[in-house]
Amino acid sequence: MTKLSSKEIVDLSREYTFFSWSVQGQVNPIPVTKAEGVYFWDADGKRYLDFSSQLMNTNIGHQHPKVVKAIQDQAAELCFVHPGNATGPRGLLGKKLAEVTPGRLKKTFYALGGAEANENAIKIARFYTGRHKILARYRSYHGATHGSIALTGDYRRLAVEPAMPGGVHFLDPFCYRCPFGQKPESCKRECIAHLEEVIHYEGPDKIAAIIMEGVVGSNGLIVPPDDYWPRVREICDKYGILLISDEVMSGWGRTGKWFAVDNWGVEPDIITTAKGITSGYVPLGAVIVSEEIAEFFEDKYLYAGLTYNGHTLACAAALATIEVYEEDGLIENAATLGKYLGEALEDIKERHPSVGDVRYIGLFSAIELVVNRETKEPFPPAVMGEVGKVLKDNGLFTFIMAKKDLGTIVFVVPPLCITREQLDEGLALVEKGLDVADKVVTGK
Ligand SMILES: Cc1ncc(COP(=O)(O)O)c(C=O)c1O
Repeated sequence: MTKLSSKEIVDLSREYTFFSWSVQGQVNPIPVTKAEGVYFWDADGKRYLDFSSQLMNTNIGHQHPKVVKAIQDQAAELCFVHPGNATGPRGLLGKKLAEVTPGRLKKTFYALGGAEANENAIKIARFYTGRHKILARYRSYHGATHGSIALTGDYRRLAVEPAMPGGVHFLDPFCYRCPFGQKPESCKRECIAHLEEVIHYEGPDKIAAIIMEGVVGSNGLIVPPDDYWPRVREICDKYGILLISDEVMSGWGRTGKWFAVDNWGVEPDIITTAKGITSGYVPLGAVIVSEEIAEFFEDKYLYAGLTYNGHTLACAAALATIEVYEEDGLIENAATLGKYLGEALEDIKERHPSVGDVRYIGLFSAIELVVNRETKEPFPPAVMGEVGKVLKDNGLFTFIMAKKDLGTIVFVVPPLCITREQLDEGLALVEKGLDVADKVVTGK
């Protein structure tokens, strides 16, 4: 391919391609040309430590030779066949997904990414139950297509409404900013009572499914109380509602377990996933359903299909990626290093007055910045811009949220292959960014 300068890469990309979720004239992309492990480089040779696993998906790290080779080998053998044909990678991956997902989850419908996985989960839940409403939480993101965005709770839905009818939202178990005004000491799980109330008003026999992120990701890294998922499972069972865990971001070892729901021993009826399934090397999404749901479609038509359903290259990439999780002990590393990360984040909170809260599970974590710890007021976007600039200038790449309604948050979500030394290196750079926010708080 033609060798381009960093300026040419940026100029061509900006002039001829759209970037996601941004005012196009304001984008300032890094011209990336190389990556390895937890690092990537721009066209001028500047190195960045990847503290967000790109878009929380490059869980095994960049350019793992095993997955690169599996893709090359599969491409040389068979890139693609009609989705009605059977292939080895398709079948083997289906079997592997049945093994690594909890309980009775068995059969997979392949898609291309998280949004498409959720689209198809919605259809499957509606066909199976004969009901049409889907409940989802306000602090959630489920994808950008019309059905998935209708379930999304955040600001990205509002811009495209009216989207799919039948999406109903409820409030989150967000203990730092409890929507029910509770403190941990006085909490009576009002969030659970609220969910049941919403179900009553919406009509239990109209509700096909409740979809929740295993652990909320881009809406602020919200780890639910330990009894939350089990209690939602009980409610679903009580009313015959399917439980869907959106593990697009929280799956694949991110929380120190294969899937976030494994932390609470909960078996959903459907898991949707994408991102870490191939670590982003090739696009792939998956809807894994229970044996009962799979059985239902044995004598009924499944009104769902995609040209790239079961894409051979993607399935081969996923099989190799899953082997890497197993062989390189990445899920164990996320669990072990996650404990260390949690302690380090608590120390950071002690040292930096701008930090209101730190939230973490495995290598899935976030630092919420507030102007004032009492009022919990988020920072103005300009300050977060400054924080982000310091991180970028110092060679740290991560995801920063600066939204009045969602908070001002620095995410720490590194590849699961990160070492303790590399984690320390990144956290030290994060602290340089926090210093900027601290000055606003202390006025010094
Ligand atoms: C929890 C969750 N669900 C769904 C999606 C959508 O996935 P995709 O961007 O692959 O369509 C995302 C993307 O960030 C996500 O975080």
